[in-house]
Amino acid sequence: MDNNCKNLSVTTVNKASELINPLDEALSLEQAVEPCTMVIFGAHGDLTKRKLIPALYSLYSQRLLPDSFCVIGLSRTQMNHDEFRLSMCQAMHEFADDVPIDKDTLAQFANCLYYLPTNFGDNKAFSALSLLIDELKVKHQTRGNNIFYLSTPPSLYIQIVRQLALASLAGTKSGKKTPWPRIIVEKPFGRDLASARLLNQELHQVFAEHQIFRIDHYLGKETVQNIMVLRFANGIFEPLWNRQHIEHVQITNAETIGVEGRGAYYEEAGNLRDVVQNHMLQLVSIIAMEPPVSLDSEDTRDERSKVLKSIRPFDLTKLDQYIVRGQYGPGCIGGQKVPGYRDERNVSAESQTETFSALRLYIDNWRWADVPFYVRSGKRLAKAITEIAIHFRRAPHRLFHNTREGEALDPNVLVLQIQPDEGISLKFATKQPGPTTHLRWLSMDFAYDTAFGTTTPSAYERLLHDCIMGDASLFARTDAVEQAWELITPVLEAWAAGPRLDFPNYSAGSWGPQASDNLIAGDLNAWRHL
Ligand SMILES: NC(=O)c1ccc[n+]([C@@H]2O[C@H](COP(=O)([O-])OP(=O)(O)OC[C@H]3O[C@@H](n4cnc5c(N)ncnc54)[C@H](OP(=O)(O)O)[C@@H]3O)[C@@H](O)[C@H]2O)c1
Repeated sequence: MDNNCKNLSVTTVNKASELINPLDEALSLEQAVEPCTMVIFGAHGDLTKRKLIPALYSLYSQRLLPDSFCVIGLSRTQMNHDEFRLSMCQAMHEFADDVPIDKDTLAQFANCLYYLPTNFGDNKAFSALSLLIDELKVKHQTRGNNIFYLSTPPSLYIQIVRQLALASLAGTKSGKKTPWPRIIVEKPFGRDLASARLLNQELHQVFAEHQIFRIDHYLGKETVQNIMVLRFANGIFEPLWNRQHIEHVQITNAETIGVEGRGAYYEEAGNLRDVVQNHMLQLVSIIAMEPPVSLDSEDTRDERSKVLKSIRPFDLTKLDQYIVRGQYGPGCIGGQKVPGYRDERNVSAESQTETFSALRLYIDNWRWADVPFYVRSGKRLAKAITEIAIHFRRAPHRLFHNTREGEALDPNVLVLQIQPDEGISLKFATKQPGPTTHLRWLSMDFAYDTAFGTTTPSAYERLLHDCIMGDASLFARTDAVEQAWELITPVLEAWAAGPRLDFPNYSAGSWGPQASDNLIAGDLNAWRHL
């Protein structure tokens, strides 16, 4: 048996070394990615500097971008191409902490960047964009393939889409495969069901669904993709992944930061819109989905969408039993005093905006009937952490009865840690060494960075690369976005119509309001101590 295993691993290594010749790999990737121009609307904004340019540079330095590639940035600020290049290089030094910067490579990359000062309300501006795209199509041989990235305030999305159509830049929705237009849309995708539907209708006037890439950066995270691998590439987990063996699931998304100067935005959004409607429900859909028929983007998105469709709508007559909210007051985090939400800049002193929410969800299908999915998410909590904890049912019989009271009753917990340190751990009982039988709960841990000795690529890197490859698996589809809003919109409306709450109701640096503990305690469960 051992020998067989050894032989097998030698064969595998030989095969792998034959297959993964770095040059071959680079060549095959070059063939797979098609030439294109990426047009970034909002190129002087925070997202472009913090995420998009570092991700594009990292792909460029790994030769994962097409050779024939360029970027056109647009925003109101007056700059020429060189000033834009300089500003993006400065942003690299300021924000790209995880990306090693090579001076020469950065200079070469910067040569692919162009800039057009533009007000998106101005029709003539889009004619100028059209001319620049044509010029660069020849210069960089991009073959007329364009990716339009909407990195602007969401109020401008529809206007830009219409302008693209008017300037004949959106290409056609016909079956013609090339040249192709694609559009990347940043969250939020609407602020309720009606506005999400309107945005989708406007996008569909101009782009076919397969050309629309709605970014939910959670789906680009390594651990989130690893959930699919863990579940569907291993034989041992999937037989347990159901109501017979799983007692409940806890998803925690805790931030220690406050609104970081974005008070005006957050006042309009709140936690439910900002995080739960999109990121948290996407995580639920990946944890709960059925195995897809294939990894084709439509097959995987079909399965995620079925989960969202199966989530039981909230009973509005007993809303507090299923969803509660909070807002932080002043407190202390990491030894530092921090102000309350209402003391933040551009936040009303009477604000009713929630900075925390906790939900109890049920997925009404064969696999998950009656298994609670608890989700909590908030700002200014005790620790910055995002994780999914699968709580298995306890052993059916307490065999080790002479152990200390309660010892044998803990459940096995599988934790998928998403941030800050990506990894997986499994908690299980062992016998503590000694002449008596005492159980000790230990965890078997796998950490991405130590296991692979490399930093994981940013979610934006993965998602931009996928978009260039035309793979929409990790992007949100129209039906999923609308299903999530169908679930959340009635809650937002009920909250808005209901009585004012006595906010703040939790201190910064705590784990949220008492109502959150009560929500889960009603099922005789408790949030994990993190
Ligand atoms: N920042 C993040 O980490 C983050 C994370 C997730 C999602 N998002 C989403 O990404 C989008 C962009 O966010 P952001 O933080 O980058 O916003 P931002 O810093 O406010 O940047 C907005 C950009 O849009 C440009 N702009 C605004 N109105 C314009 C107009 N009428 N014509 C031309 N340009 C105009 C601004 O140009 P000027 O600066 O030249 O005026 C700026 O470049 C938003 O939808 C946001 O919700 C952001």
